[in-house]
Amino acid sequence: MTTPDQTPPENIQGDAAPDAPRASSAGAAGGRGRLAGRAAIVSGAAQGIGLATTGVFCQEGARVVMVDVDEAALAAGAASLSGKALEVLPCKADITKFEECEHAVKLCVEKFGRLDILVNNAGVTKDGLLIRMSEADWDFVLDVNLKGAFHLTKAAVRPMMKAHWGRIINVSSLVGQEGNAGQANYSASKGGLIAFSKSCARELASRNILVNAVTPGFVHTRMTEHLPDPVRKYFLDKIPLGRICEPVEIARAILFLASEDASYITGAVLPVNGGGYT
Ligand SMILES: NC(=O)c1ccc[n+]([C@@H]2O[C@H](COP(=O)([O-])OP(=O)(O)OC[C@H]3O[C@@H](n4cnc5c(N)ncnc54)[C@H](O)[C@@H]3O)[C@@H](O)[C@H]2O)c1
Repeated sequence: MTTPDQTPPENIQGDAAPDAPRASSAGAAGGRGRLAGRAAIVSGAAQGIGLATTGVFCQEGARVVMVDVDEAALAAGAASLSGKALEVLPCKADITKFEECEHAVKLCVEKFGRLDILVNNAGVTKDGLLIRMSEADWDFVLDVNLKGAFHLTKAAVRPMMKAHWGRIINVSSLVGQEGNAGQANYSASKGGLIAFSKSCARELASRNILVNAVTPGFVHTRMTEHLPDPVRKYFLDKIPLGRICEPVEIARAILFLASEDASYITGAVLPVNGGGYT
């Protein structure tokens, strides 16, 4: 069965985004916006939720290292944001490799002088019934979704610990909370990401590094536009708001957790699912 998380996201670029930046107090290095002066790394930034998050962050004054394994998509994603006076730095990196995560962190610190925010957003699916699921398919999904977040987080916390300030937001999924037939590997990785967030939150709180997770529901993608009506209806019927989420709506929730507005929130799981479950 096709599931929401299988679908590639709609082409939500900088255009789609965000409301006009809100006037707010100056950040760490001056400027305006809720993330003014901050530097961030967003993984899986080439498209979908990661690209929308990059756009929202930049509009709020942050500089962003866009990490993705897909070089062509990364170039296209960064290009879609250009011309908007945004400061982004594309960085091709495979988060399953620790050295490449270290490189991304080094790049951010070298070019932007700091690393304040990490968004572990990169994710993959390889769906199938448990009885037929190969070890390779299990490992592939766990390696990217869970181990990749571990790698990038481990590399990113060094400069955050030195600065005594940090925000880490992990993009989990409602499937990580509820499970889903045909997605044993994916749901395990996303459930693991929630537990990982809570442990990191406890471990890093004394350094003022806050770690939270968001759990998107059914996010609007190109593929969902072509879902057969009965499948679309099946998912829509479970969503009280009666519509599919746009990537920028996930990005705004991530922005909240990255901002000073969330200064007393850590170890939390923020569902962004239209009320699709409680
Ligand atoms: N789309 C949905 O309905 C939905 C729902 C819940 C959760 N999510 C989660 O949100 C996140 C973003 O999803 P999306 O829909 O924008 O997906 P997407 O496929 O558009 O984007 C994921 C990005 O991650 C990148 N990526 C994959 N493997 C990588 C690796 N090893 N190293 C670096 N980058 C890698 C891909 O190249 C891609 O650009 C994922 O973690 C996904 O599980 C999505």
